[in-house]
Amino acid sequence: MADDAKEAIDRALADLGARFPARFAAAATEQALRDENAKISGKKGELTVLLAGIGKAPKAARRAIGEAVNELKAAVEAGFQARLAEITRAARDLDLGARPFDLTLPGRPLPAVPGHAHPISIVREEVIDVFRGLGFAVFDGPDVELEENNFGKLGFPPDHPATDMHDTFFTTAGHLLRTHTSNIQVRAMATTPPPMAFIAPGAVFRRDDDLTHAPMFHQLEAFLVDEAVTFAHLKGVLAEFAERLWGPNTPVRLRPSYFPFVEPGAEVDIGCVFCKQADGTRAGCGLCKHTGFIEILGCGMIDPVVFTAAGLDPERWTGFALGMGLERIAMLRYGIPNIRLMFENDPRFLGQF
Ligand code: DAH
Repeated sequence: MADDAKEAIDRALADLGARFPARFAAAATEQALRDENAKISGKKGELTVLLAGIGKAPKAARRAIGEAVNELKAAVEAGFQARLAEITRAARDLDLGARPFDLTLPGRPLPAVPGHAHPISIVREEVIDVFRGLGFAVFDGPDVELEENNFGKLGFPPDHPATDMHDTFFTTAGHLLRTHTSNIQVRAMATTPPPMAFIAPGAVFRRDDDLTHAPMFHQLEAFLVDEAVTFAHLKGVLAEFAERLWGPNTPVRLRPSYFPFVEPGAEVDIGCVFCKQADGTRAGCGLCKHTGFIEILGCGMIDPVVFTAAGLDPERWTGFALGMGLERIAMLRYGIPNIRLMFENDPRFLGQF
């Protein structure tokens, strides 16, 4: 009886050993192969069942049977891996053969939200457009500027607080990163005989970095030099500018202010865009410090000292200048309450313009 059991197991092992290669070979897909492998080596597979029957064989024969089972197990595993590699290779070859590279295929589709201009760029182009329409041309200049073009020739005394290391990035002696675009007044007057009407958009730099200030931001300067220019010309340009950016009936007011390169100088406010009510009144809010007005730019009549420094006769030439921060204009144009949003480049923010 016990010997019969050993014989039966031996026969079954021999039978399985002889047939498994053909069974694996017959499996055409990876899944079929895995199924076949499970039938042999799985939890309830033929080999497992055989191994479980080992107890019925005579004690003396068990060791030999165990070794034979393990040998077959290894052979089955090797056969499985070999066939698996074959099937995988065949599938890949088929794939490559069936779908050769098609170089004429279009590329991957672009993201649903395509890239577009940053709000500062949009506003810069809008402002340039307004001034172009009024006859101003763009005058370009470098970011690294002579200290005298940024300060001295604009009437800043040598000990003016703005010239302090604390506020200005100096590069080498006598050179700095321009702190404003007013330097273009000096450059234009040095190279262009009046009359002239220019705008100068560009990056400016200050040693400032907090919730409402960034060390690099953008300004746009506009100035006009001719004979007999008056404050009324400046006011006309300001009115046109405010109307084009914020619509007709936008309240505009001027407050006397001081800048070294203009006399008289003023700051221009428009009705606060953040707390404007449906009926046009302003409730007052934190952003306009509860005044109902919010500052948009500085301006004034070009000071004679600027003409003199440029070698132009201050008795003959007159002009006005104005300068604005483009981040600020963009914020007021679109009602953006926080300047940081301008620099973070979050697509959820940028996608709104
Ligand atoms: N340059 C000034 C600034 O950076 C802005 C400015 C004020 C420009 C008055 C002007 C002006 O042309 O007339 O704060």
